[in-house]
Amino acid sequence: MQLRLDKYLADMGVGTRSEVKQYIRKHQVTVNGAIASGPDQKVEPCQDQIMFQGAAILYEEFEYYMLYKPKGCVSAVTDARYPTVLDCIKEKNRKDLFPVGRLDLDTEGLLLITNDGPLAHNLLAPGKHVPKAYLAKVDGEVTEKDVTLFAKGIDIGEKHPALPAKLKILSCKAQPGQNDWISEVELTITEGKFHQVKRMFEAVGRRVMYLKRLSMGSLQLDNALQPGEYRALTKEEIDSLKHRR
Ligand code: URA
Repeated sequence: MQLRLDKYLADMGVGTRSEVKQYIRKHQVTVNGAIASGPDQKVEPCQDQIMFQGAAILYEEFEYYMLYKPKGCVSAVTDARYPTVLDCIKEKNRKDLFPVGRLDLDTEGLLLITNDGPLAHNLLAPGKHVPKAYLAKVDGEVTEKDVTLFAKGIDIGEKHPALPAKLKILSCKAQPGQNDWISEVELTITEGKFHQVKRMFEAVGRRVMYLKRLSMGSLQLDNALQPGEYRALTKEEIDSLKHRR
């Protein structure tokens, strides 16, 4: 697939479309060793060697980042009130990145950021039932009865009950200096309804006090990342997501 040279360079973050046109006109861009003829020169992304100011500019159609979404930023591309998850990704080239799905403002954890629309569709489409695992701190004592209710599929006030979900109780402790109990649990759901985890616990009379996404399909949140940090996905992670292993 051939591309205009100015689009190629703008897509790879060399500058805005008008900036890269200037660079080309100032002879700062070469194609296969020859000075580019103009912004509308056609190039073949996988074959031609494009250089800007002597540095090779490789073309990547898709970018994939794993973000440890921090609390307080919104899962959107733009927002008038809050920083967005895209503001966290500092070294992006592509301008068409978006978050795959949403986490609430006060939820933290794994969020995939990409411009690969077909992959996002495959991960989010309701019929695909991609598992998503969450760590939650819940007020009160989560019991084996709740585990059974979640496994059956709990009514969260929609036309159909939530699909069966796997609830694992990790701990149940008294809060220091208080009589209240806090349960730590891991919950794996295969849907992505609005506020789904919070609504599932509300349905059994509990309140989620802390929520962190640990995984989405085969993609696990990297333990080395701190809230607000991100890294590019490895080739294995991308392949595994694409082939739903
Ligand atoms: N479920 C929720 O309630 N909130 C999230 O952010 C994600 C899943």
